[in-house]
Amino acid sequence: MVFTIFVTRNIPGEGIEMLKRNKMFKVRVSTYNGILPRRALLKAVKGCHAVLALLTDRIDEAFFKAAGPQLKIVANYAVGFDNIDVKAAAAHNVVVTNTPGVLTNAVAEFTVAALMALSKHLEGADLFTRSGKYKGWDPNLFLGDELQGKTIGIVGLGRIGYKVAHTMGAGFGMKIIYNDPRINKDFEKKYGAQFMKLPALLKQADYVTLHVPLLPSTHHLISTKEFNVMKKTAYLINTARGPVVDEKALTRALKNRRIAGAALDVFECEPAIDCDMTDTLELKKLDNVILTPHIASATREARNEMSLIVARNIIAVLSGKKPLTPAQ
Ligand code: GLV
Ligand code: GLV
Repeated sequence: MVFTIFVTRNIPGEGIEMLKRNKMFKVRVSTYNGILPRRALLKAVKGCHAVLALLTDRIDEAFFKAAGPQLKIVANYAVGFDNIDVKAAAAHNVVVTNTPGVLTNAVAEFTVAALMALSKHLEGADLFTRSGKYKGWDPNLFLGDELQGKTIGIVGLGRIGYKVAHTMGAGFGMKIIYNDPRINKDFEKKYGAQFMKLPALLKQADYVTLHVPLLPSTHHLISTKEFNVMKKTAYLINTARGPVVDEKALTRALKNRRIAGAALDVFECEPAIDCDMTDTLELKKLDNVILTPHIASATREARNEMSLIVARNIIAVLSGKKPLTPAQ
């Protein structure tokens, strides 16, 4: 029997080659230049046994109906899997997998880079210099804060949150406070970290960094009420998922200098930088926010490992074995 595998978009890394080398598989990679439009996606998956999906593909009831009952696995090329209706998948007996672990370093390093860029005003200073405004050394120019002794609030102590805490705590001498559904005593002991309820964390942190998955319980986790308790000097970093932050409330908080600034790698209505799709929202005009296009996991190392994990999950499930990293 030959299994058909559909890849919704060409991805870097060795995973696709690994699948193609297997004589049991017929691998079809989308040749569309961009995110496969919904209709084309539903048409392309018909009759497939496995689908390698991206976080930009909505995998829902209609998708499973369109694919057909032979579909065995949707391997998501991402650690987050909020694009997939896992209940519908289970109802159709389809295994869902993600890529945990392998992008921890990439996302944690990016988060640290964003935090540093905020605290040292790298972006504004670059623009300033580039536009010819530098007229001589000035003792007041772009004063930033030192991180030593400042407090970082980690919201979501998974692998990524842990690595950020380690780097900023052990490396830069920041005080660590965290919020998570689970209390981690070993972590607390190792880093002198303190668990806090979210409002208390927001009140104390100089930097708040989000590392939670997008779930109904984390949708708009940070909104007006939350911004109102944060320090005026505090910064927010979001490398998790856009809808975890109420973007309208964030824009207001940034505009009114309710908080000092933010770094966003993800957006509520991605790829739009605003939810009304006109891209006219003030967010882009503000000078106290750094905007990047969902690239926190974009290292060659992470993307290669991600492609290998999706390939191994597909091979396992199509050979009747358990998936390596089932999404849960
Ligand atoms: C990227 O955002 C991922 O979830 O892997
Ligand atoms: C993701 O890999 C996480 O656990 O934070």
